[in-house]
Amino acid sequence: MMNAKVRKAVFPAAGLGTRFLPATKAQPKEMLPLVDKPLIQYGVEEVIHSGIQDIIIVTGRGKSSIEDHFDVSFELEHLLESKGKTELLSMVRSISDMIDISYVRQKEALGLGHAVLRAKELVGSEPFAVVLSDDVIASETPCIRQLLDVYEFYGASVVALMEVPRDQISAYGVVDAEAISHNGNEQLYRIRNLVEKPKPDDAPSNLAIIGRYVLTPEIFSCVESIEPGNGGELQLTDALKYMLRNRPIYGFKFEGKRYDAGDKLGFLKATVEFALNRHDLGDTFRDYLRGLNF
Ligand code: G1P
Repeated sequence: MMNAKVRKAVFPAAGLGTRFLPATKAQPKEMLPLVDKPLIQYGVEEVIHSGIQDIIIVTGRGKSSIEDHFDVSFELEHLLESKGKTELLSMVRSISDMIDISYVRQKEALGLGHAVLRAKELVGSEPFAVVLSDDVIASETPCIRQLLDVYEFYGASVVALMEVPRDQISAYGVVDAEAISHNGNEQLYRIRNLVEKPKPDDAPSNLAIIGRYVLTPEIFSCVESIEPGNGGELQLTDALKYMLRNRPIYGFKFEGKRYDAGDKLGFLKATVEFALNRHDLGDTFRDYLRGLNF
């Protein structure tokens, strides 16, 4: 039997962004610009390039600029048109033409599992992707596409994995997993257990979950079945652990470089590297950095 096609992607975006205060006091962290594009747009482009058209953004209070960003801006388009700025005009139009976006509110920030559950009605009974937009991933093949390839083969949920140093492991969901051979390489794991933000001594491995998931719809009833976990929140990691009772879950050590753009240092690294890779800025920016005395 063919596995159902993944057509939808959920973007939880109702978090408070406390790691980036004060910039995120009156502005969603998803709208922080990396060079000249808001974080969430990198994630949206990643899913579009992975073949997903239908986007669901879970927003909260103070997040209306996300909706405005993906909406048509008649005033701006009119201004650019009247000034003959055709290149900028087509760039601005391409954002609103990108895809169909639906929004659902998460009234309280009660955890990632809770945020995903808010998308239940809009997702329905089909598999879907989840993207945490503060994890920005630069890769040849979009990270979500890499997970979809595994999903299409096994018909089961898949999470993105990355090895992280022991002293950073407590910031992540961590898996206990067994490597299995897939297409002749060792990037695929069958997950045996998951723990959200363990102490370094309790971490079952150095394999952390990064914010990309492909989930089968059973995840919704799993979130509904669990109790609040780490931080008193409904954790997606705990719902996945619950799902393991009945379903296999895979982990995929994706190819690409991940930036934690929700963290100040990670954001700076991403900004510098993305700017250096830009054909319109890279050379002058490189010269500028070389000229700095530090
Ligand atoms: C969330 C998840 C965690 C995962 C992380 C990846 O945590 O709960 O399992 O490892 O994203 O970025 P957060 O960073 O939102 O605290």
